[in-house]
Amino acid sequence: MKSKASAPGKVILFGEHFVVYGVKVILCAINKRITVTAEKIEEHKISIKSNIGDLILEPNKPISEINSPLKPFYYLANKMLQTQNQITGIETTVESDIPLGVGLGSSSACCVAGAAAISRLFTETSKEEILELAIAAEKTIFQNTSGADCTVCTYGGIMEYNKKNGFTKIESESNFHLVIANSNIKHSTESVVAGVKQFKEENEVEFSKLCNDESKLVEDVLKLLKDNNTKELGQKIIQNQEYLERIGVSNEKLRDMIMIGQKSSFGAKITGAGGGGCIFALTDETNLEHSINQFKEKNYDCFSVKIDFKGLILFN
Ligand code: MEV
Repeated sequence: MKSKASAPGKVILFGEHFVVYGVKVILCAINKRITVTAEKIEEHKISIKSNIGDLILEPNKPISEINSPLKPFYYLANKMLQTQNQITGIETTVESDIPLGVGLGSSSACCVAGAAAISRLFTETSKEEILELAIAAEKTIFQNTSGADCTVCTYGGIMEYNKKNGFTKIESESNFHLVIANSNIKHSTESVVAGVKQFKEENEVEFSKLCNDESKLVEDVLKLLKDNNTKELGQKIIQNQEYLERIGVSNEKLRDMIMIGQKSSFGAKITGAGGGGCIFALTDETNLEHSINQFKEKNYDCFSVKIDFKGLILFN
């Protein structure tokens, strides 16, 4: 028997990093996905196959001994074998059309689709249970996750989220397009988040003011989203980028891309952890093509995405 599930990637529109310290974040799922197929196998082993390599191990290894980006899948498979008292094994196959490790939610989409496909080999699991499993799996590679990314990959759409109260979907008729430009600099979310923690510890007063400013900005954005005011949203994006510059998650290449985005669209900023990864530019049909052309002229890897409203898809 096989079990298959797919989950979308994500773009953080406003509030990355500050969300780790309790501020509200606004994020959306995007129309790029990870699909995971899980299958019970006779041999007592855990096998994960993906386009970044394979991981084949005996069950019951301490998770701290596994040094692989595929570790969340091992965690999920091992947990299910243990809780279901299984002496069989699990083979998992991962297919992705999300660029990996560049801030577009590839690891959270893996955790959500993996949690769904693997758990449903044994038992009916609800979306809430899948999300809980996915966040636990994500913690094996990034202990301090806010949980925002897995949440939007599970439920899709555009939402506000904070660590204390979880998520609320935003009903917006927004007709914007996001142009994503990829710096192709891989980043580790964990180490960029650790850098921000250090900034906070060394600059407590300034960081606390930035958290207040970000909170206020997010409240303004929630109103602008209701009014579908793309131009003003662009201004808020530019303002949010200034806060990200302050906490040290930007670099020269990202700044160059943001400059191109800000000149050719309503506004552009880093999305996700920063330090590398992607930026996005907010456009609509009046400037979408122009913005893409400007990035392409400078040889930047870029593409446009739309909001995904489906979230997690279960195939059986
Ligand atoms: C990473 O996509 C977003 C961060 O805010 C970390 C998190 O929310 O867990 C940097």
